[in-house]
Amino acid sequence: MDIHSGKIIILDFGSQTTQLIARRIREQKVYSEIHPFSTPLEKIRAMRPKGLVLSGGPCSVYDLDAPRCSPEIFSLDVPVLGICYGAQLMIQQLGGAVEKAAKREFGRADLSIDDPTGIFAGLAAKEPHQVWMSHGDRIERLPLDFITSAESAHSPYAAVRHKTRPLIGVQFHPEVAHTLIGAEILGNFIFQVCGCAPNWTMQSFVESATRAIREQVGERRAICALSGGVDSSVAAAIVHKAIGDRLTCIHVDNGLMRSGESATILKFFKETSKLRLVDVNEGEYFLGRLAGISDPEVKRKRIGLGFIEIFEREAHKIGQVDFLVQGTLYPDVIESVSFRGEAPIKSHHNVGGLPAIMKLKLIEPLRELFKDEVRELGLELGLPEEAIYRQPFPGPGLGIRVLGAITKERLDILRQADAIVLQEMKKSGWYRRVWQSFAVLLPIQTVGVMGDGRTYEHVIALRSVDSRDAMTADWSRLPYDLLAAISNRIINEVRGVNRVVYDISSKPPATIEWE
Ligand code: XMP
Repeated sequence: MDIHSGKIIILDFGSQTTQLIARRIREQKVYSEIHPFSTPLEKIRAMRPKGLVLSGGPCSVYDLDAPRCSPEIFSLDVPVLGICYGAQLMIQQLGGAVEKAAKREFGRADLSIDDPTGIFAGLAAKEPHQVWMSHGDRIERLPLDFITSAESAHSPYAAVRHKTRPLIGVQFHPEVAHTLIGAEILGNFIFQVCGCAPNWTMQSFVESATRAIREQVGERRAICALSGGVDSSVAAAIVHKAIGDRLTCIHVDNGLMRSGESATILKFFKETSKLRLVDVNEGEYFLGRLAGISDPEVKRKRIGLGFIEIFEREAHKIGQVDFLVQGTLYPDVIESVSFRGEAPIKSHHNVGGLPAIMKLKLIEPLRELFKDEVRELGLELGLPEEAIYRQPFPGPGLGIRVLGAITKERLDILRQADAIVLQEMKKSGWYRRVWQSFAVLLPIQTVGVMGDGRTYEHVIALRSVDSRDAMTADWSRLPYDLLAAISNRIINEVRGVNRVVYDISSKPPATIEWE
C-alpha cells in the first residue's frame, strides 16, 4: 500500500495557520503536503493529489504583488477547497468580485449553513455554528454557477461552492480550534469530496519508510549521532529497523549533559535493541577546550567543533561509511523556504559541516513528519515514553547555561539545581505542559543570610517557557507554590546557592536560552 497515494496538496499563500491545515488533515489519517503557491501546474499534476487546499494569507487579492496560483488548477478535475484568502483568490480568478469589507471580521462568528451537503454533510442547517474569522476583504459577487452554502452576520458568502464541480470556498478557518465544526468540515472535504482513504498511520509509515531506507542504503553503511534527544533517537530507531547493524550510532558525552540526561535512551538502546552503539565519554576533553572561555559564541563554536572532531574520529574507526542519519523534521524542511520560495528563515543543524567534510549522503527519515507525529512514531517503535516526551535540549548543553567561565564545580552546581527543577516539574505534572524548563547558573554572587552568618553565593535563574515551535515563546505562568517548592529545595539542597530568580522575559526580544 502506498500511503502517499491519496495525498492532499496544500498551496501556501503565507498564512500563519498553513501548517495547522496539514496537521488537521493528517490527524484524520490522510497524508498532506505543503507547497509554495507558485508551484507550477505540471508539478502539481505530477504529484497526483486527491485534493487541493488553498491556504489563507496576509495579502489582498487586488494587491499588485498578490500571490496567485495558476487559474488552471480549477480545471484539473481535482477538488479544491479555498480557505479565506484562498477562497477569495478562487472567486476572483473565476470571475467573481472581492472587495474590502465595510467591517473587518476577526474572531468568533456564528455560521448558518444553508446547504448541509458536501463539506457540511451531517451538520445541522440554519443553526449557529461557532467558526473563526480573520479577514479584511470579503467576497461580494459570485462567479457564474457558484452558490452560497453558508453565511454569517458580516459575510453573506461565508461558504460558497460551484453548482456541479468540486470547487469550494470558505471565508472562515476550519483548521483552528475555535472553529468547533472544523474537523467535520475538513473530514467531509477529504473523505466525501476527495474520496481519500484514512491510510496515513504511523504503522503504515514504518512499513513505507523502512522500505525506502533499505532501497536508499542497499548494502552500504550509515552512522548517526545519537544525542538522546527525541528526533535523533526516533531517526536512529527507524533506520535500525530498516538496515540493522549496518547502522552504527555514536553518542558523544561532552560532559555538558543534564544529570542522567541521555541515560534513559542509551539504556533502552543498549538493553532492548541490538543497535551498534559507540558510547564515548569526552567530558575532560571538552572542559579543557572550554577552560577560561566566557564568550557565548566562542563556547558554542568550540563545543560544536569538538563534537565534529570526535565524531569524525569515531566514524573513521568504523571503516567505509556512506550515509549520515539526521533527524530533520517537516517544519525545518518547509521553514527553510518562505512561501514566496525565497531565502531560508533559519538553518540550524548540530552536526553542521559533517556531511560535507566526510562526504556523506543524508538519510532523513523524519523529514515528512511533524513533531507530534515523530513522538507517535517513537511510541510505535517501542521507545520509552520518558524519552519520547523529553523537552528539547540544546546541542551545546549546559555549556550555554553556565554563564561565564565553565568549570567542573560550576557545572556540578547547575546540574544539581537543574535536576531539582526537573523533578519538581514532573512531580507537579507541569513538565509536559511547558515547552522547556531549566536552571541557569549566573556569573554573579549575592549576599544572603543563613543561620547567623552572612553568605556570599551563587544565583540560579529558573527559566520555563511555553512555545509551539521555539520561534516565539512566553514565560510559563507556573503556580507560585511550584516556584516556591523549587526555590526552597535548590537553596536548601544545593551547596553554594543562596538565591533563585524566575525569568519573566518573552521571546522576542529575549531568547529561550541565556547564551
Ligand atoms: P533560543 O535560545 O534561540 O532557542 O530561543 C530556541 C530553541 O533552540 C534550542 N537551542 C539549540 N538547539 N543546538 C540545538 O540543538 C543549539 O545550538 C541550540 N541553541 C538553542 C533552545 O533550547 C530552544 O529550544
